[in-house]
Amino acid sequence: MDVRTIRAQFPDAEKYAYFDNASRSILPVSCIEAMGRFASIWHRAGFEQFPEYQQLLPDLRSQIASLLHSSPEEIALSWNTSVPLNTAAQSFPLEPGDRVLVGRSEFPANVYVWENLARKGVEVTILPPGKGYTTVEDIRSALDARTKIVAVSFVSFHNGYRADLEEIGKLCKDAGAVLAVDAIQGLGVVETDVRACNVGILASGGQKWLLSPCGTGFLFCSSEVMRNVWPCFAGWLNVKGADPRHRSILGTPFDPVDDARRFEVGTLAFHDLVGFRESLKLILSVGVKEIQKHVLGLLDVLVEELRSLPVTIQSPLGAGERSGILSFACEDSTALKESLVAERVIVAEREGAVRVSPHLYNNLEDIEKLCRALKKFFGRAG
Ligand SMILES: Cc1ncc(COP(=O)(O)O)c(C=O)c1O
Repeated sequence: MDVRTIRAQFPDAEKYAYFDNASRSILPVSCIEAMGRFASIWHRAGFEQFPEYQQLLPDLRSQIASLLHSSPEEIALSWNTSVPLNTAAQSFPLEPGDRVLVGRSEFPANVYVWENLARKGVEVTILPPGKGYTTVEDIRSALDARTKIVAVSFVSFHNGYRADLEEIGKLCKDAGAVLAVDAIQGLGVVETDVRACNVGILASGGQKWLLSPCGTGFLFCSSEVMRNVWPCFAGWLNVKGADPRHRSILGTPFDPVDDARRFEVGTLAFHDLVGFRESLKLILSVGVKEIQKHVLGLLDVLVEELRSLPVTIQSPLGAGERSGILSFACEDSTALKESLVAERVIVAEREGAVRVSPHLYNNLEDIEKLCRALKKFFGRAG
């Protein structure tokens, strides 16, 4: 992976060390330029004059399908993570007495989505926070014949724990439950294979590791799950027999198309999606495998440095448990985070810890800058 070439897409990466991709990434030049070009054409000549407009949505569904090892027919475009997760939760055929399992240490959006089903008589079991994440064992001991959905994050937003989707997927398959994944903290930086992991539902926004604008996201619904799921929202664009040019749309009965486009509701955020396509191009051209290797390599250097400082690493470091997020705490994590930002090292504070989340454009000099700033804070400048 040629970081120098990639860095040309992120010119301001020279001005500061940006380690906050788990909040929102910085956007590549190609993404900004494409959005600017689209906005300018729309401004001057009208939306329909954007030459690639017809191809935009199919391109995106194919790109996302390659990231996930799924098929484009299983992808519905959306606006973030919460909307597609809610769409899936409200569409899924659940009856009173059915159970959903979700962990207490999940990002709140992924808990509320399922808790909201309690009104329908669904039993929502919130697994205890444990060490800050839900393990395979937690799920194994809670699963029963009434469990219809197991909801997990691919990667924890605060400590970076990477769920063992393959094992959880096997458990779900054996129990006849569907694995539903909030993938926003992993997709783009950790390899993802929905087929190998028996994932039934997966959602992600584009604004973090997919290097994309806010207003982008998608739902993956496997073709097996799709067979039993009727969309909870009725869209006007994706009914069978609809005129794609909208010349004559009155009188078409509501009968949603068979593929995942049935979950797309109304006009999408085209301006943001134009940027999404460019950012996905960049990620796919480098390859997630390469990005993962690069990011973990950078974090290895940081972990070594942290061992000599008065901090507690909060992220699990076991094989298969790591991701693009590394968090560590000290006596005053707020002061530490603020002092790093003052040194132009951009990190976040989450759940009492400093969270570092590098991406493909970061280099060793960025990590060295972070280490110098850490040593300065702890009075070990040298
Ligand atoms: C695990 C997880 N899920 C979801 C979100 C955000 O959801 P949305 O894209 O709907 O804003 C975040 C972070 O903001 C997150 O860390």
